[in-house]
Amino acid sequence: MSEEKNIVWHKQSVGRPEREAKNGHKGCVLWYTGLSGSGKSTLANEVEKRLLDLGAQSYLLDGDNVRHGLNSDLGFTKEDREENIRRIGEVAKLFADSGTIIGVAFISPYRADRKKARDIAERSGLDFLEIYVKCPLSVCEKRDPKGLYKKARSGEIKNFTGLDAPYEEPIDCELTLVSSEAAPEELAEKVIGLLKQKHILL
Ligand code: ADX
Repeated sequence: MSEEKNIVWHKQSVGRPEREAKNGHKGCVLWYTGLSGSGKSTLANEVEKRLLDLGAQSYLLDGDNVRHGLNSDLGFTKEDREENIRRIGEVAKLFADSGTIIGVAFISPYRADRKKARDIAERSGLDFLEIYVKCPLSVCEKRDPKGLYKKARSGEIKNFTGLDAPYEEPIDCELTLVSSEAAPEELAEKVIGLLKQKHILL
């Protein structure tokens, strides 16, 4: 039973405009979605390096890492993935509200869950930039950096995205990057370009 009705919002004395003025850029959510092994984390790390060089305030939330802590109680059923994305949508909003360019690299396979994460950010007046890291399943499976596709094929792992669990491609995301056709460094420049185009980076 929710106790929310007995909790009153406390307005904070330092607001987003002050934090953004201090940082010299806006906060926003950079949401990377794509299959396991598609290159989300590699790309997001390349973007992080560039943002650091630019002196921007940024951070990266990565599915594999967050599942070791905050979301260690969640598995890979549709319901658990929904909760995974809901929590991370809320956390990303808090980071963005703090004036941070927050990268989120999660498979986030369901359109409806990504939409909810977008709504959480946009309701607070924050930009949500969805980046589809597109890569054919066959290439992801060939890369298999963690040996998980092999385990999933042998039946050792169930509900594996792209095999026996769905991945719903974005329909109108802000950017689609085909990771099998360009180097991560080149794609990272496109993300920086998007941040400039959207006036997040000034
Ligand atoms: S999500 O679908 O809920 O968004 P998330 O990005 O947090 O997934 O975690 C995905 C990572 O968990 C993958 O990169 C992979 O390393 C690992 N993993 C373990 N089991 C699965 C599975 N059944 N399906 C997809 N990824 C899995």
